[in-house]
Amino acid sequence: MAEVGRPGGALVTSPGKQHTLELAERYVCGDRVRFLTGAGIDLVIGRRQGYHIWDVDGRELIDIHLNGGVYNLGHRNPDVIASLSTALETLDIGNHHFPSTERAALAERLIGVTPGAHYAVFASGGGEAIDVAIKSARRATGRRRVVSVVDAYHGHTGLALAAGDEQAANAFLATEPDFVRVAFNDIDALDAALAEPAAAVILETVPATAGFPRPDPEYLPAVRQFCDQTGALYIADEVQTGLGRSGQMWAVDHFGVVPDILVTGKGLSGGIYPIAATLLSERAGAWIESDGWSHVSTFGGAELGCRVAATVLDLTEQAMPGLPIQQWTEAFARLQQKHPDWVVEVRQTGLIIGVKFAHEVGGMLMTKLLFDNGVWAMFAGFDRSVLQVKPGLLMGQADIDAVMAAFDRACAAAVAL
Ligand SMILES: Cc1ncc(COP(=O)(O)O)c(C=O)c1O
Repeated sequence: MAEVGRPGGALVTSPGKQHTLELAERYVCGDRVRFLTGAGIDLVIGRRQGYHIWDVDGRELIDIHLNGGVYNLGHRNPDVIASLSTALETLDIGNHHFPSTERAALAERLIGVTPGAHYAVFASGGGEAIDVAIKSARRATGRRRVVSVVDAYHGHTGLALAAGDEQAANAFLATEPDFVRVAFNDIDALDAALAEPAAAVILETVPATAGFPRPDPEYLPAVRQFCDQTGALYIADEVQTGLGRSGQMWAVDHFGVVPDILVTGKGLSGGIYPIAATLLSERAGAWIESDGWSHVSTFGGAELGCRVAATVLDLTEQAMPGLPIQQWTEAFARLQQKHPDWVVEVRQTGLIIGVKFAHEVGGMLMTKLLFDNGVWAMFAGFDRSVLQVKPGLLMGQADIDAVMAAFDRACAAAVAL
């Protein structure tokens, strides 16, 4: 493989890590390995605990990317592990053809915290759950057309890929004529797109890969109103923004709107057992009453995952009254005051934070400079001037201070370049 290492820094030294990078480049994700190592990011994660991860060579990083919220409650959260261990004493994946105590109980829990939801369909990942959402909207409306948002990411399965970024869909010949995209926050464009009948409007409440732009106060109520007027269903993708991260259970709750379909994933797994869910209104899920075998998923709603997800909901509800939202607001205000020419905008919705820097690839540069300073954070794929900051729900002040000290050093280094 090409030389692995950091420009201007030490090359990878451990033979074990070198071997893993070589195998990963050869067999798993060659382009990604070359991109990351070429950018000086040679991370191979070994030990992990709480909000800290360690490179297999022992270098410690604080994780504020959390894989999009998979680790909202920390890596290897002991309560989540205990829940899985207990479940393993009696359960397995279960049989998706039969009613299941675990699935029924989790469905009741999820529907109880999701306004407008009447049915839960379980999946093993977010993309699969988005596919269920779009299929359900099509079936409920008898229409095929789906309106989504430019620069969206809903996953890489079939319909989820078609609804996301056009270039990504094109790459797998998944561009479908029935999928149209409009700019986020553009009410007129949405109005125009809904002039033709559509099955659904799908959007992330605060789009992650676009750099977490906040919806204008009138935007989501307008989405709801246009859907009501035209008969389209409103699908809220809360795979990243849900489960307490915004300060409410779902980010839509902040904006006073109730979608017809809400999709959750990532953090529902507790980072321990994959599970996702599509929560459907009575209208959106009517097919469940009449044609029960028309969608099945062998691993969707695995019983072990249901137990884990129930524990995740318990821990999330316990954490929500004490989320460290204000601490981050104040910390980023101080950072912006200190580096006003570099930190140009902080977009915050609870613990969903996008930080925009004064260069078109400023977010990417900060990913690398923070990595050098012991913090793992990812830039926004569709706006590389922005860094995504997704800190943990349970993160304490000592970690927040350490992260902000690293930001200060990284900003100073960026300004000095
Ligand atoms: C907003 C959003 N929706 C859907 C998905 C797809 O989830 P998965 O990777 O579990 O299929 C992701 C994954 O990053 C996401 O960020």
